[in-house]
Parts: sequence; structure tokens; C-alpha cells
Amino acid sequence: MAENLIIATSTTKAERYETLIPQIESLIAGESDLVANLSNIAAALKQTFNFFWVGFYLVKGNELVLGPFQGPIACTRIGLGKGVCGASWKEEKILVVPNVDEFPGNIACSSDSKSEIVLPAFKNEKVFLVLDVDSDKINDFDETDALHLGRLMKLIEASA
Ligand code: SME
Repeated sequence: MAENLIIATSTTKAERYETLIPQIESLIAGESDLVANLSNIAAALKQTFNFFWVGFYLVKGNELVLGPFQGPIACTRIGLGKGVCGASWKEEKILVVPNVDEFPGNIACSSDSKSEIVLPAFKNEKVFLVLDVDSDKINDFDETDALHLGRLMKLIEASA
């Protein structure tokens, strides 16, 4: 396992993702425990991008339950279809929300959170967790984040 994360000094997001994702791949390659892997992934994303909040919610019965994350304390349980995370789970798709205050039913764990991206991961064709990334800036996520974080979700699916 890598002892130190290498963070691209480049200013482009795409290049930072390109440097990060192979490191995450090797970080989780030798470990089968999901929580251990999600914990390191949340930390690696925080170290690389200094996201305001980044972490996972795991599907448990009819709710999402807070999993490994980095950032301020957060809501512990989210129902199917509730908030951006619950909507991503229900609709089984990536959601990019430029302004969370304009999202119907937004769950504001923190009033500092302004924009958000949520991506689902699938096991046996069902969502088993979501990755939630929040920014304290409006309109901070775009297709580049969706593309590269989507690659990351595929790694998580393959390791779970
Ligand atoms: N805003 C999210 C809730 C989770 S937190 O922001 C960490 C949502 O609407 O699903």
C-alpha cells in the first residue's frame, strides 16, 4: 500500500483525478474490507481536493446510513428519495446539483453546503451505497467530476 498520497500540483481537476485514481486502485487492491476501503477513499479525496464534505452513505434496509466520511458531522439516516442522496439512490443515477437550495427536498446537513454531486454504486444491479461530495461554493461540480468519480465508483463496485 502507498504510504503517501501523491497530489498533482496541476490546477486542472482532470489531471488531479488522473493522478489520484490509479493510487486509489492500488490502495484498495490488497484490502477486502469495504469500510476500510471507503475510509481511505474519503481521505484521499479530501487530501486531493479539500472538498467541504466527502463521504459515503450505505443502503441498509429502506434507508441510507452514514458511512466513512471527511468533513463536518452529518445526518446519519436518509430515506429513499429524500434529499439529493436519496434521489440518486431512487433514480439510480448521478446527480449534479449546482445550487442545493434550489433542489426540492434538499437535506441541509450544513447551511455552508452550496453545491453537490452524488453518485450511486451497484451490486447485483441494485444501489448499495452512494458517494456524496459537497462544496461550500455554488456550481462547483461538472461533467469532469461526474466522469472521474464515476470511474471511482466502478473500482468500488469491483472491490465490493
Ligand atoms: N445534502 C445531502 C445530505 C447529506 S450531507 O450533505 C452530508 C442530501 O441532500 O442528500
